[in-house]
This record gives sequence, C-alpha cells and structure tokens, in this order.
Amino acid sequence: MTVAGPRELPFDLTDDRFIADPYPGLSALREAAPLVYDERLGRWFVTRHADVRACLRDKRLGRNFRHVGSDAEFHAEPLNPSWAEFWASERWSLLWLEPPEHTRIRKLVAAAFTPRAVESMRDPATRLARTLLENLGEEFDLLYDYAQPYSITLICELLGVPTDRHRDLLDWSHAIVKMYEFDTTEAQAVAANDAAREFRTYVLGLIEERRADPHDDMVSGLVQARVDGERLSDDEIVSTVVVLLNAGHEATVNTIGNGFRALSAHPDEWRRLVSGEVSAAQAIEELIRWDPPLQLFERWVLEDDVEIAGAPVPRGEKLALLFGSANRDPRVFADSDRLDIARANAAEHIGFGGGIHVCIGAPLARIELAASLEALAELCPTLHLVEQPERVPAFVIRGFESVRVAR
Ligand code: HEM
Repeated sequence: MTVAGPRELPFDLTDDRFIADPYPGLSALREAAPLVYDERLGRWFVTRHADVRACLRDKRLGRNFRHVGSDAEFHAEPLNPSWAEFWASERWSLLWLEPPEHTRIRKLVAAAFTPRAVESMRDPATRLARTLLENLGEEFDLLYDYAQPYSITLICELLGVPTDRHRDLLDWSHAIVKMYEFDTTEAQAVAANDAAREFRTYVLGLIEERRADPHDDMVSGLVQARVDGERLSDDEIVSTVVVLLNAGHEATVNTIGNGFRALSAHPDEWRRLVSGEVSAAQAIEELIRWDPPLQLFERWVLEDDVEIAGAPVPRGEKLALLFGSANRDPRVFADSDRLDIARANAAEHIGFGGGIHVCIGAPLARIELAASLEALAELCPTLHLVEQPERVPAFVIRGFESVRVAR
C-alpha cells in the first residue's frame, strides 16, 4: 500500500498526557496528512473535516461488515464468546446494524422521536434543571449531582422507563461503554459483560410489564410495533432500549462537563452567556465543536475501489474518523482553536455524526443541553471550578471523572 504522510500515529491514544489535551497532537497530524495508516492499531485514521464528513455519508462504508463478509475476509477477530452477554445486548443496536435491518428499526425509533415528542421535553427539561440546582448547596459535583440525574431522568421519561433504578442504569452504561475504547482491560470487559446481563434482565422485565399493561410510552410502542406485519423480537427491543438509554445520557453528561470546563477556562465567554449576549442554544454548538464528548467512530470498507482522501483503501480495512480533529479543521473553522460561543458556523461540527447513523437524539440533546446551560448561567452566574477536574482515562468517550464546582 502506498500512503503519503506518517506511517503511524505520532501519539499514543491511550496515554493520559495525550488525553489531557489531544488537540495540539491532532492538529499536527491533520496538517501533516488527511489519512494515516497505523500499523500497530491496524486502522486508517481520517483527520480532516471534509473527509470525515464524506466517510460518514459513504454507503460503501459500514459500521459493521458481518452482513457482507466473514471475519477472515475483514481480518477481524471473531467476537470473543467470553463476552457473549455484551454482544447479545448490542446485536440489534442501531449502532451496529446496516441496511436493511438498520432501516427497519431506525424507522420505528424515528417515529417516536417526532419533532413534537422532542419539543414536548423542553419545559420539563427547564423545570428539572432549575429544580436540581435549587436543591443543591454552595458546592457540588456538576456531573454526579446535576448532569447525570438530569439527563438520565429526561431520557427515562421519553422512553417510559421508571427512574427508581437510575443509578443502576448509569453504572451499567458506564461499564458497557468501556468496550468502545482502544485499551479495554479484561476486568473492564468482565464488568461490561455483567452489566449487559443485568441490563438485559431489567429491560426484559420491563417489556413483560408493558406487554401486560401498555402505557403511552416508547417501550410500550416498541412492544406493540409491527413492521410489515412482524413484531419486533424481544432481543431487538432490548438492544434498542439499551442503546437509547446509554447514548441518551453519556454524551450529554460529558458535553455539560467538557463545556463548563471550557467556559471556566474562558471567563469572557462565560460572561457573554450569563449576560444573555449569546444564547445557550447557540453556545452549545461551539462547546460540542471545541471539545466533543465522542472523539472517534469507526467504519469498515465494504467494497472494492474505495478512495479515502484521495488514496485507495482496500475492502476489509477499518477507518477511524477523528471527530475532535475534524472539529478543529481551519479549512472550515476560522481561528479554529479559539473558543467563540457566538461562532457563526459552529453547528457545522461533526459532533452528531452524519449519514444513515447520524445521531437520532441530536434534537433532544440540543434541547437538553440548552436548557441545562441556561439554568446554570441564570441560577449560578458566578459558578466556578473548585479544583481542576480529572479526565476519565479514555480517548473515545471524552469526559471527566467529576467536575467540582461552587457558586
Ligand atoms: C451531546 C449529545 C450527543 C452526541 C454528541 C451524540 C453523538 C452521536 C454520534 C456521533 C452518533 C453517530 C455514530 C456513528 O456515526 O458511528 C450518534 C448516534 C446515535 N445517538 Fe447520539 N449523541 C448525543 C446524544 C444522544 C441522545 C440524547 C440520544 C437519545 C435520545 C442519542 C441516541 C443515539 C442513537 C440511538 C444513535 C444511533 C443511531 C444509528 O446508528 O442509526 N444520542 N450519536
């Protein structure tokens, strides 16, 4: 294979020093080459905005390959049977499906995420954000005490999942998402598998309850739905509910943490928000652009003769799309390292993906994030960090362990 530019990543994605501030390294890489093959990781890294965006929309690429080829053809390790519970919970997740299965289930989920249903969450989101803040003391953890209960309550409400188990839902989700990192340890995989088993048992119970006694909610909707006369199987419903619950809060919570950390390092920007010069709805686009909570998504090359960023990439290869790098691409964003919450084209960020897997929760996330930031700016105008927050030691899902703040 002939590839221009570096033959490997000039940094280690799992190094805590890199994770602390990956942007100088990502920028240098992006300016050196649009595409870099890393032999150790066996992946092609795509660095620039236009190419990442094109990959997301390219139907010759897929999140999965098992609908068109074998593990051997795609040089992939077979799924490790030790983590069977985890794979079972993911088997029907929208994130791992490709057409036609993806089209069938996405259509059903989209029917529940109508603009009206999502818009109806705006007032409850604002009320909840204010109530949470009113009940917190002078000092609190922005993630544990505010963003987590806020986000999990709203997604549970939309789905019709009771909130009495919300700490379990958060624990299961945190354990499961460790499987998406580059350096998942055996202990983390065991924990993810156990979490998937418990999560599945819980959702199966919920399905039984809603089957016997349907409510006006999304779980009941999935239980009763028919596509071409066929009902969804329990496995399909479990994966759908799990992906919605997990995706429905992980990135939102981390955006609140990453976003406030960014604002506290740029007090002038925080003041523009507090004074009302810039709306929270506008600011969140720049916060997602500047420090996105999801840094990397992968695609398999499913066909022959695919060119990525001008270079041929053979069928069976794996691409890693660097969202955080694309979001700082100066070809799209002027003075791209600068945080400017009124940036006119901030919403061109890649944060919500694109193409058939584009975030189905993006309209909800935007409402939630704007309401939560607005409440913070209004009720806690002098909010500040009590200590420098510590990063979760993970590259793909970017967030903090905790964000201690005082008002
Ligand atoms: C700031 C918050 C969020 C961010 C940054 C985000 C980002 C993303 C991205 C980048 C993808 C595409 C992955 C890919 O192309 O491989 C995605 C997919 C998805 N997101 Fe989000 N998301 C957020 C919030 C939400 C919320 C609130 C929900 C649910 C209510 C949600 C549900 C989903 C689902 C179900 C998918 C899979 C869609 C599919 O594969 O068809 N997300 N999200």
